[in-house]
Amino acid sequence: MSDVLRPPAEVLHAQELAELRSTDQAPRPPGWQLSPRAVRTFVCGGGPCQRKFYGDDVLVERAIITLAGNRGLLLVGEPGTAKSMLSELLAAAISGDSTNTVQGGAGTSEDQVKYSWNYALLLAEGPSSKALVAAPLYVALQRGRLLRFEELTRCAPEIQDLLISVMSDKVMLVPELEGGERLLSARPGFNVVATANLRDRGVHEMSSALKRRFNFETVHPIAELQDELDLVRRESARLLTESGADLEVEEGVLELLVTAFRDLRRGQTVEGTQLERPQAVMSTAEAVSVAQAAGLDAFYFGQRQLTPEHLGRHLAGAVQKDSPEDLPRLRHYFEVVVRERSQRRGGLWKQFLAARKWLPL
Ligand SMILES: Nc1ncnc2c1ncn2[C@@H]1O[C@H](COP(=O)(O)OP(=O)(O)O)[C@@H](O)[C@H]1O
Ligand SMILES: [Mg+2]
Repeated sequence: MSDVLRPPAEVLHAQELAELRSTDQAPRPPGWQLSPRAVRTFVCGGGPCQRKFYGDDVLVERAIITLAGNRGLLLVGEPGTAKSMLSELLAAAISGDSTNTVQGGAGTSEDQVKYSWNYALLLAEGPSSKALVAAPLYVALQRGRLLRFEELTRCAPEIQDLLISVMSDKVMLVPELEGGERLLSARPGFNVVATANLRDRGVHEMSSALKRRFNFETVHPIAELQDELDLVRRESARLLTESGADLEVEEGVLELLVTAFRDLRRGQTVEGTQLERPQAVMSTAEAVSVAQAAGLDAFYFGQRQLTPEHLGRHLAGAVQKDSPEDLPRLRHYFEVVVRERSQRRGGLWKQFLAARKWLPL
């Protein structure tokens, strides 16, 4: 396990899942590996489990209930709000397998969703279930598992709509096969958990027939500063250790970063100053990646201690993605908000103000 970069959730958290399974007495929907209560514990923490998703626990409960019912679950939201992470955790806990996944994109084809063929066998023996190569939708129906469909709305409409009949009738027709093999009926436990980014044009273009087969849940950025800070600290420490950089990270330095991200994301500071919001996402995930880059910089080129200056060296890259206007907005933030805080509070904010020299002109 330690020699792969990122094991799937069911491997990474195998011990927690095994403990939950051995003590779980609550009622369980057919085909599920855990009860809804245990799934919630796995995601939101408690008992043997660490909290993994920070945010609205009621949203998590509703998501679990949706998956126990007849409709699919569509997690929508800005990029970097842990939609994919939540879908992975749910699939790991409910089906014991989070890897049965279609990664949606402009080039996603029907083969990659339903099934394709082993052409050597197909030519030699003709179509048979032996020659069929199952893709994630087929596997989900056959084994009674969740299908994860990432970035559903980035797929062409006809690919999205492949899901409609399967989600309502719970069967898939395989016209090439004969007799009993032509119809694949879903086993209990089958359902779909999909994600969609609000930044992609897509969500509104989804057909209304498909929309009706999903319950939508909107995932928002983490509400509490302290939760977001804890997460950024934990995740960046993990990533830094993984990349071999063992260094000291002062919580106060990360607080500068998280505070700046939150101010810019909202277009308003905690003191009430209005700001122009950058078009860049300023997500928690992006903050983690700035913390990691700054940490690596401090480790390899600095004194093995993360300083506000290192943050300054990596902030522009996170902000300057969608629009050339974003850099002036970041500068303005430094000149107005960071300056005011450095005068009022001094300390790390003063060092942070000095870090503006690293912002490109
Ligand atoms: N509410 C949250 N709870 C836990 N982690 C979060 C949260 N929001 C963002 N993250 C962090 O962001 C990372 C990326 O999230 P991801 O699932 O890829 O986002 P999305 O699919 O919404 O773009 C997560 O792995 C996690 O480190
Ligand atoms: Mg995602």
